Amino acid sequence: MAISLNRHYLKTFIDDDALFSMQEEVSEAVSFLYENKANAAGNDRHGWLTLPEDYDKEEFSRIKAAAAKIREDSDVLVVIGIGGSYLGARAAIEFVTSKNYNLLPGTKTKIFFLGNSISPTEINEVLAICKTCDFSVNVISKSGTTTEPAIAFRVFKKLLEAKYDKAEAVGRIYVTTDRAHGTLKALSDEEGYRQFVVPDDVGGRYSVLTAVGLLPIAAAGIDIDALMSGAADAMRRYTSTSLKENPCYQYAAIRNLLYRAGKKVEMMVAYEPDYTLMNEWFKQLFGESEGKDGKGIYPASAIYSTDLHSLGQYVQQGERILFETVVTFARPKTDLMIEEDGKNADGLNFLAGKPLSYVNRKAFEATVIAHTDGGVPNIVLEADTMDAFTLGELFYFLEKACAVSGYLLGVNPFDQPGVESYKKNMFALLGKPGYEDMTAQLLKRIEE
Ligand code: PA5
Repeated sequence: MAISLNRHYLKTFIDDDALFSMQEEVSEAVSFLYENKANAAGNDRHGWLTLPEDYDKEEFSRIKAAAAKIREDSDVLVVIGIGGSYLGARAAIEFVTSKNYNLLPGTKTKIFFLGNSISPTEINEVLAICKTCDFSVNVISKSGTTTEPAIAFRVFKKLLEAKYDKAEAVGRIYVTTDRAHGTLKALSDEEGYRQFVVPDDVGGRYSVLTAVGLLPIAAAGIDIDALMSGAADAMRRYTSTSLKENPCYQYAAIRNLLYRAGKKVEMMVAYEPDYTLMNEWFKQLFGESEGKDGKGIYPASAIYSTDLHSLGQYVQQGERILFETVVTFARPKTDLMIEEDGKNADGLNFLAGKPLSYVNRKAFEATVIAHTDGGVPNIVLEADTMDAFTLGELFYFLEKACAVSGYLLGVNPFDQPGVESYKKNMFALLGKPGYEDMTAQLLKRIEE
């Protein structure tokens, strides 16, 4: 089943005429990915577009072999990376298996994600775990120079070298980085670590279907062939330039229409807690791709019905700047029948004989009606189930929609110049060589 876009709950906000009047603009935006690529901003970062078919097959085999080795010799895999070098893999593992992946009875190798914060507490916790078991490290950084993962890698490399002999420690380190540049690449060459490549033409947040995502995902026992097949299916499916026929481009167009109508915040919603990290991946993808030049929809997220008991009030009656995009699944991963109870003390016997997925569906229907009545447009993306194939489809669908949406907005969806500001300030405050000029100015501003 393909991803489809249900516009039923949008009718009162955007009618067919308004949507299809976007055809010309959408065609122009899409042309930046294909025939007009030469004039596109960020055209050196379009590699993700053909990646589901045009990927390095030899490396793909090495990824599977590395994952098998990790599952064989490691109780724990520490995956070190941040942003695009982190979120996709974790989102995939939680989506296909569970947010409780590490606790599942069938889990062979527990996976911990580090280097995505600078919290000493977080690092110390995983260090303590790794001291008592066999572990391996997959350090991921496209630039090979990002501070957060570099610090975490230094710590875990030291523990590996203390725990195992030199050759064994080297054999337990898997590096995913640039083909030629960066400190991590130089260190890997020097030490002889196993290396995997982030292709030059694939930016961090579009890199989940490269070794960046694939190695940790395979190490979790997930079928990466199915993942790539789903993405390849989406790649072939969402190509029609006709807005009427292409739900991926419809999503991009609708987002922009809503933004122009003052809906500045998109709430990505799912009714499955295992979607939580997919929401985080979505926020990075769209936030970094569109939030620039004083423009962009602010990407937010929620898991319902959980967050109906926290954010629901705001969505229903707060400032009317929101729209929601709800991802629904036709089939839950598992289901649970509600049983008859002799006493019926809780008064729930009216639900006896119904599966819990039915109640979850009614929660969705009730909410989407309430929120649209409250002035919140709802886009509904319908997918099959939370498996590797569907995830591949979703990754590709959302990446392509993001690129088209960014071009519609008139920004470069593939750069992130704003991320540098905090980094420069942090380096200056930490006294990194080369930042001396900034240090005094910043210290003065803190003390003022
Ligand atoms: O999307 C991006 O490019 C960023 O979020 C990066 O993935 C993030 O900053 C990490 O960078 P790197 O992989 O170079 O360590």
